[in-house]
Amino acid sequence: MSFFWSSWITVLSLACWLFIFGVLMWTLKSKPVLDEDETTGHSYDGIKEYDKPLPKWWLVIFFGTLIWGLGYFVLFPAIQPNAWKGVTTVEVDGEQVPWTSANELNSQLQANNKVFTENFEQNILSNAGASEATAILAKLNELQSQRKSGEENAELQAKIDDQVKLLAPFVDKLAADPEAQKIGNRLFLQNCALCHGTNAKGATGYPDLTDNDWLYGGEAENILLTIHNGRQGAMPDAKTNKLNEAGVRAAAEYVLNLSGNQQGYELDAAKVAQGKAIFDGTCVVCHGSEGKGQVGVAPNLTDDIWLFGGDRDTIQTTIRHGRSGVMPEWQTKLGNERVMLLAAYVRSLSQNAEQ
Ligand code: HEC
Ligand code: HEC
Repeated sequence: MSFFWSSWITVLSLACWLFIFGVLMWTLKSKPVLDEDETTGHSYDGIKEYDKPLPKWWLVIFFGTLIWGLGYFVLFPAIQPNAWKGVTTVEVDGEQVPWTSANELNSQLQANNKVFTENFEQNILSNAGASEATAILAKLNELQSQRKSGEENAELQAKIDDQVKLLAPFVDKLAADPEAQKIGNRLFLQNCALCHGTNAKGATGYPDLTDNDWLYGGEAENILLTIHNGRQGAMPDAKTNKLNEAGVRAAAEYVLNLSGNQQGYELDAAKVAQGKAIFDGTCVVCHGSEGKGQVGVAPNLTDDIWLFGGDRDTIQTTIRHGRSGVMPEWQTKLGNERVMLLAAYVRSLSQNAEQ
């Protein structure tokens, strides 16, 4: 918090407290001049006003709240929060930190997480016959907390990824466990359905997760890494690929031809040939010489499964402006246990499709 806001809070809360205290003391002390019938002489529609002392019980409550307020100043970082942390603390990341509402929330979230993790390890994993994953998770947590405290580090990230891959066989076990699937489904609806749809069938720009056509691979290991770290597609735009507008149209024509022209367009043979030359010169690096794509690099263009759309206009738009779909990372938001359950759920979706 900046010095200004820190001071602002201090001045505001102290001024408020002093003002209320002042008003109370003033009303207690002030003795208005009374008439001989002990009224103040004010008369409203014939109703006369006495000046009786404030009731005891009311005063006790009022002073009580003022003292309560003072108590908060001591317990809570209320006065100059930059300097005064308050005497009470809550536990976050195993450390005692000042009792602020943000820290309190974090502390409660962590406590809930602990319950979840224990339940995950003691019930879900063991019921699925995957208890050995616990040791891997412990090692993974340790590596991740190193990452949290240090800066970006490729070597450490590689170690983390290796550790994540070790979880793959256990994800397959979870994928066969109906209880784990139920939880996975709920987690999916809460976190993933927004983009991938409640049935995981995706939408334009968001891949179908049930169809066994994978951008980044459909083995447990691939899915785990996808959800853990997130993914970022990178299809360059025409400028980067050094294509003019005619080049864009020709390349699109070739892509239509590659995918078997399912839409039944009348293709311009000259443009297709021109497009092939462009494709072989520029696009092969990522999409492969036959346009079948490479897992983790670029999608297959021959299968008539489209992430962004397979009509002529959309393909031209894709080639003209490029695409960069973003799959967010989830490990830091959900933790390794939930990522495992989600990976198992996603895995089971496509396994069901296989049968
Ligand atoms: C903000 C939107 C968004 C959310 C939320 C989201 N995803 Fe994704 N996801 C994407 C996009 C976009 C891609 C494709 C990335 C690309 O174009 O390269 C993707 C790709 C994937 C893939 C890879 C598919 C493949 O073909 O290899 C998996 C698996 C996946 N998401 C699972 C999940 C899960 C599980 C969740 C919930 C924890 C989730 N996603 C939440 C946008 C999202
Ligand atoms: C640097 C690698 C790279 C190059 C070069 C490249 N692409 Fe792509 N392309 C991708 C990636 C990655 C995606 C997926 C983007 C995403 O997931 O957001 C993609 C997506 C596409 C799509 C959309 C597929 C769909 O399912 O909707 C088309 C069409 C396409 N590329 C055509 C081309 C053509 C034509 C060229 C050559 C002019 C080309 N690409 C060059 C990497 C590349």
